[in-house]
Amino acid sequence: MAEIKSSAVQGGFGRTERRDAWWVESLPVWILLGGFGIYATLRAFEGDFYSWGPYLSPFYSPLIDAGHHFWKWSPALLILAFPLGFRMTCYYYRKAYYRAFFADPPACAVGEPAGRKYRGETKFPFILQNLHRYFLYFAIIFLIFLWKDAIEAFWYEGHFYMGLGSIIFLVNIILLSLYLLSCHSLRHIVGGKLDCFSCTAANKSRHGAWKKASSLNERHMLFAWCSLVSVGFADFYVRMVATGLIKDFRIL
Ligand code: FES
Repeated sequence: MAEIKSSAVQGGFGRTERRDAWWVESLPVWILLGGFGIYATLRAFEGDFYSWGPYLSPFYSPLIDAGHHFWKWSPALLILAFPLGFRMTCYYYRKAYYRAFFADPPACAVGEPAGRKYRGETKFPFILQNLHRYFLYFAIIFLIFLWKDAIEAFWYEGHFYMGLGSIIFLVNIILLSLYLLSCHSLRHIVGGKLDCFSCTAANKSRHGAWKKASSLNERHMLFAWCSLVSVGFADFYVRMVATGLIKDFRIL
């Protein structure tokens, strides 16, 4: 049996025989994911400036009880758990934030803090990461609402309308769709648990869908980052227009 040698040096946090700048990989996670987490939390609690004209911020969609009949806090808090749960349990983000925020391990073949016992995701709370496949079903429902919002961003006061915000919403929904369609769990639903793709006609079509899902899945990390930036920026744009800091640039 081939012997597998690890370049990690045992017994020391951050110790490694790697000569490259392995910590650089964590920089975008600290900046983008950390920054997004802070911004999204503030916006979710703000409970205001979430719509303007034909635009509804993706952080507040679907909009529930905007009139505060039964919920006196921000409407975003009613729905936050679903998109947040989907992102937090995403296979790619898990790898990214385990490394960047938990140093568990900081990178491939780099020593982690002493005294840690590897238990995978078999114990609470990390066993909850297995809920990802269920969050996926909710994410599909949310994506339908966001597509509706993106289409409505092109319709204002009974007429076709195209502003800069409409384009931002369109780009955002395309990136969010690519993020969801490249999901590992979705790929498993489409083509998993099959021993033979060519045995039945139905399995053959599943094979075609699985190949498409696999090709998108190869770029899942890219879609994860792009959609994170686009969804944050779409909300930011709505907030800027709703507060009157900028005017929506009308194209048509
Ligand atoms: Fe990333 Fe499912 S694995 S969204």
